Amino acid sequence: MNKEEKIIESIWDELELSLTESGHPFHIFSISSINNGQPDARNVVLRGVERKKNMINFHTDSRSKKVSQLEEQADICALFYDKKKKVQLRVYGKTSYEKDIQKIENKWQNSKRMSKLCYLNKYPPGQNISNPKDYLYDDIALENIDKGLSNFSIVNINIKSIDWLFLNHKGHERMLIELKKKDSYEYNWIAP
Ligand SMILES: Cc1cc2nc3c(=O)[nH]c(=O)nc-3n(C[C@H](O)[C@H](O)[C@H](O)COP(=O)(O)O)c2cc1C
Repeated sequence: MNKEEKIIESIWDELELSLTESGHPFHIFSISSINNGQPDARNVVLRGVERKKNMINFHTDSRSKKVSQLEEQADICALFYDKKKKVQLRVYGKTSYEKDIQKIENKWQNSKRMSKLCYLNKYPPGQNISNPKDYLYDDIALENIDKGLSNFSIVNINIKSIDWLFLNHKGHERMLIELKKKDSYEYNWIAP
């Protein structure tokens, strides 16, 4: 394996590791979308990595603003930073919503109770409310937490390219990786 291939392998290895290793810097990442021509960004949790499909995913409330923004324009930029390794990833791709009901239900069943509760909230994220906690689910909703499943969605990011930046006191390094179908890719060194 040459240097470039090792870097690409390490990107996928670290993304996968973040799913299970507590406190991994890639566990939380920022996603940017376009809101009526204006940039918007927020943090989300990395929930799935499918290396063979060039895909990663996160979970969200289907009523949220990011969902309508990404439905309007599916282009996304995801930003990761590993402070210790001094590696930044800018991941570019298009989003699609997971349609496989079985997969969605499995992820829902495997979610922690605390995560499930967010999907029971009475009001969609972003709705105006009179008091800070007015959005919270009623006690009665707790009798059937699985009702939250109707608001639960998995957003897949189909990765087109990754801009990898390594900060190094002997000289930073930056590579642009274009991901192609069937495990193939092209890469170019670029000035940092
Ligand atoms: C550390 C952290 C992790 C978060 N993880 C998620 C997540 O996985 N999914 C999600 O929808 N929102 C998550 N949020 C909340 C979002 O950042 C955002 O505030 C919310 O989803 C509403 O965003 P929107 O109005 O752009 O849709 C997280 C926030 C923080 C601070």
